[in-house]
This record gives sequence, C-alpha cells and structure tokens, in this order.
Amino acid sequence: MNTNTKHRVLVTGGAGFIGSHTLVELIAAGFDVVAVDNFSNSDDTCLRGVEQITGQKIPFENVDCCDFAAMESVFQRYDFDSIIHFAAFKAVGESVEMPLKYYRNNLMSFINVLELMKKYNRNNIVFSSSATVYGETDVLPVTEETPRMPAISSYGNTKQICEDILRDTVASSSVKGIALRYFNPIGAHPSALIGELPRGVPNNLVPFITQTASGIRECLSVFGNDYPTPDGSCIRDYIDVVDLAKAHVAAITRMVEGKNKQNYEIFNVGTGKGTSVLELVEMFQRVNNLKLNYKIAPRRQGDVVSIYADTSLANNELGWKAERSLEDTLVSAWKWEQYIRRK
Ligand code: WQD
Repeated sequence: MNTNTKHRVLVTGGAGFIGSHTLVELIAAGFDVVAVDNFSNSDDTCLRGVEQITGQKIPFENVDCCDFAAMESVFQRYDFDSIIHFAAFKAVGESVEMPLKYYRNNLMSFINVLELMKKYNRNNIVFSSSATVYGETDVLPVTEETPRMPAISSYGNTKQICEDILRDTVASSSVKGIALRYFNPIGAHPSALIGELPRGVPNNLVPFITQTASGIRECLSVFGNDYPTPDGSCIRDYIDVVDLAKAHVAAITRMVEGKNKQNYEIFNVGTGKGTSVLELVEMFQRVNNLKLNYKIAPRRQGDVVSIYADTSLANNELGWKAERSLEDTLVSAWKWEQYIRRK
C-alpha cells in the first residue's frame, strides 16, 4: 500500500484457515485489520498465531455475521472501506444432509454484510468463492469464462448464489466486488503458528494425510484408482494457503487503487497445475521423509475426475502468481500438524 493513511480491512471468518493467513498478509502489506468470527468452526488458536507472527494485537469481535444488529455495531465502531468475507460453512457432505443450515448461514451472512456496506457506504468486497462452481467440466484448464454447471451440493450452490447476489448488488449500487474462485487450498504458514484445524474426521485430503502420518487416523483411503487419468486417481489444483492469502491482498489493493476494470470481477486462484491424489501422497512421503499408511478405496460420490485452473487472468490483472512449490507446501502442512499435536 502506498497511500498515506492506513486502510483498514474487515475480515469475516478471520479465525479460520484462510482468514488467519490473510490477516497476516494484509498486515505485511501495510493494511490495518479488524477480524470477526463466531468460532463456529474454529477457536482462537489461529488468531493468537497471527498475533505471534505479526507482533500485533488483532482487533477482534466475536460476532455471527447472521446477527444483523451485532454486525451493524461492528460497522458503526470501526472505520474500514474494504471487506473480505470468508465467514461460511464449508463441509460439502454436511451441506447435502442439512441444506437449510447452509443456505441460512451462507446467504444470510453475506446479505447482511452487503446491506451494511450500502447503508454505511463501504465500497470494496472480496468474496470467497470456489472452483466447485464449475462442477464437472470437460474444459481444462478452466477459465473464468467456463460456464458454471448446476451445483452438486448445497454448499456449492451457496457459492453460486452468493456470486449472483454480489453481481446484482454491484450492478445496482456503488459497491465494487471481486469473487475469488479457490481451487484446493492446502498447507500452512511457514512458521507453523497457523494452519488448518478441522473438527472431527477431516473430509479433505491433506488434513487426512497429516492426521494419518501423526497416527490419529489409521489409514488414508485413496478414493478411486480407476478414473480416466494417467494413474487412475483424481486430479486437483492444490493452492498454497499463503499464496491464496496474497491473492486477497492483491484483490483488495486493486479496488482500493481503482484499478479494477469492472465493478464486479471474478478470478480463478490456483496454480494452473493438476496433481493426482497418488502423486500428492507420494510427494508428501518423499518431502517429509516418512511412510504413509494408505489403501485404494472405492470412488467417493460426487467427486469430479479432474479440475485445474487457467490462472492467466489473475496473473495478468491482479499481478498475482502462485509462488510456493507443492513440496514446500506439503512440508508446511506436516510441520503444522506436528505443532498442533504438541500444543
Ligand atoms: C481432493 C481429492 C478426493 C480425502 C472440496 C470442496 C471444494 C473446496 C475444497 C472448500 C479428491 C481425494 C480426499 C480422502 C481421498 N471446498 N481424497 N481421500 O473434493 O476437491 O474439494 O474441498 O471449502 O469446494 O468440494 O477436496 O480435499 O476433499 O479431495 O482420496 O480421504 O482427494 O477423492 O479426489 P475436493 P478434497
């Protein structure tokens, strides 16, 4: 940031995995922050970690974004012009079983934030979207122009609907918005002071791998080795969480500096490289010098065969590029797992 007065950013879901890493990168880039979270899927571990990394006390409000009055009080008490909205439920399987829980939480919290932005004249918002909006697509790599497919889960549908809510709000107000479509965020801060803290049995691959390596889970199941891919396992675009956090800083800076070309923009955030589950498992073992107990299991319902990003738009427009190697990311994930188990 090269403005004289520090620009403050409200980060909803600031105690979470991506939120906490983004707080660190915002502060490193010269922004002030205020974080809100209701700890529905987190605790204060990562906030304390952010404070250790940055050496700063993080202004924090324990608020549920669905509580309009409590959120309004945050808008009244803090001066910020930009918001990064992470706060949402994100378990794909649970969303299929409890769709109303997901629609209520993910839509209402976002609508509240947008209404308050309009009411208090706050201008810029970055929304956490997901590559899940592309569904099963034949076009690889996927660009932002690749048509969205009907969502397979209620979680995915909330991401599509929120994108549309943002598009329509921007079209009818002075709000500017950027939706970042994340591919598969993994890893942890190199300090190992912040990382992913899944509750219960992890659904996602890398937390399951690290928990298996640390002995909490007996054996990793690789869901399917008979897909039409070179080694038969599914292919994803694994994006390092620190790189992902930096994409948010680039998106906010773009709007603050008035460099956005449209008032609503969408960017893929990935590496552009597809990695199979078996490749990832092999790499994790190699770079961390350990042996992982794993077996081939049946396919998991709802998995797309292969998806990875075309990142040219983010590279050219945001001036952002994934930098950390997958090897380093997998080392950081293991380092974090060991840190959190010792705590
Ligand atoms: C990756 C690959 C699995 C676990 C989901 C959401 C997406 C985003 C990120 C965020 C797949 C395989 C997994 C395991 C396995 N959501 N796998 N054994 O499904 O690509 O994306 O998380 O909040 O919206 O859909 O990620 O990490 O679950 O799976 O073999 O124990 O690993 O089959 O091929 P996914 P994932």
